[in-house]
Amino acid sequence: MSYNPFSLDGKITLITGASSGIGQATAIECSKMGAKVIITARNEERLNETFAQLEGDGHQKIIADLTIPEDLDRLIESIPQLDGLVNNAGVIKTLPLKFINEHDLINILNINTFTPVFLTQRCIKKKKFSKKASIVFSSSVGGVYKVSLGNSMYEMSKNAIDAFMRSAALELAHNGIRCNSVNPGMIETPLIHRGTYSEEDRRKDIEKYPLKKYGQPQEVAFGIIYLLSDASAWVTGTSLKIDGGVTL
Ligand SMILES: NC(=O)c1ccc[n+]([C@@H]2O[C@H](COP(=O)([O-])OP(=O)(O)OC[C@H]3O[C@@H](n4cnc5c(N)ncnc54)[C@H](OP(=O)(O)O)[C@@H]3O)[C@@H](O)[C@H]2O)c1
Repeated sequence: MSYNPFSLDGKITLITGASSGIGQATAIECSKMGAKVIITARNEERLNETFAQLEGDGHQKIIADLTIPEDLDRLIESIPQLDGLVNNAGVIKTLPLKFINEHDLINILNINTFTPVFLTQRCIKKKKFSKKASIVFSSSVGGVYKVSLGNSMYEMSKNAIDAFMRSAALELAHNGIRCNSVNPGMIETPLIHRGTYSEEDRRKDIEKYPLKKYGQPQEVAFGIIYLLSDASAWVTGTSLKIDGGVTL
């Protein structure tokens, strides 16, 4: 028998935003640690690509747009009781203050903040969490540990979800349910390549990282695995920086 306090053996874990980047890596790594994963996102083709890379059996995939209430209802109806929930789906839009508009702000808050709140709430209401379940939120260093030019909408959405995570951790502790967040710096995913980001900007930005590189999606997935596993049984309400030292 091999000793592994980080094992997710048999733990049923729902991962949102699993068709790309951090969510995809988290789904694959969780399956390697023994979890039965339920993956969800909007894009069927990319979700299938994730599904094909899962190890083991008993996994499930559900196409859903988390901002559509009917999709959220269908998702909740389709899932069994969960040992873990990773609220990971998210978007970014970089705009200087004077160009902020209601449409973009509502869109960012909808996906990054409201959706994890309501998905978590519905799972509670429908008794979808097992005893000792662990909920992990994909937050960011942005808005919580540091700020950067043009990212006020994104940073407020992430600061808000971190605040919700701490309140939920206190409120759900008596049920044995833990809530934590991971707070990554720049991670090499499609998200950071959207928008106006030149090679020169990237090179200068990487210089600000003491470890002189951006992170890989798996490096966040490993932090999420720790928070989902029994190794973190006494950890709740924590914001775990995974940032190559950029906030030092
Ligand atoms: N990459 C970074 O540097 C970084 C740093 C800090 C925090 N984060 C956070 O980490 C999380 C994952 O980011 P990532 O870099 O992996 O981004 P990504 O590669 O762009 O993936 C985002 C995921 O969210 C899903 N998604 C977006 N809108 C959705 C919606 N309305 N309904 C359902 N799913 C939706 C996308 O799936 P579909 O398009 O298939 O729906 C996709 O799977 C985000 O919350 C992000 O803010 C990322």
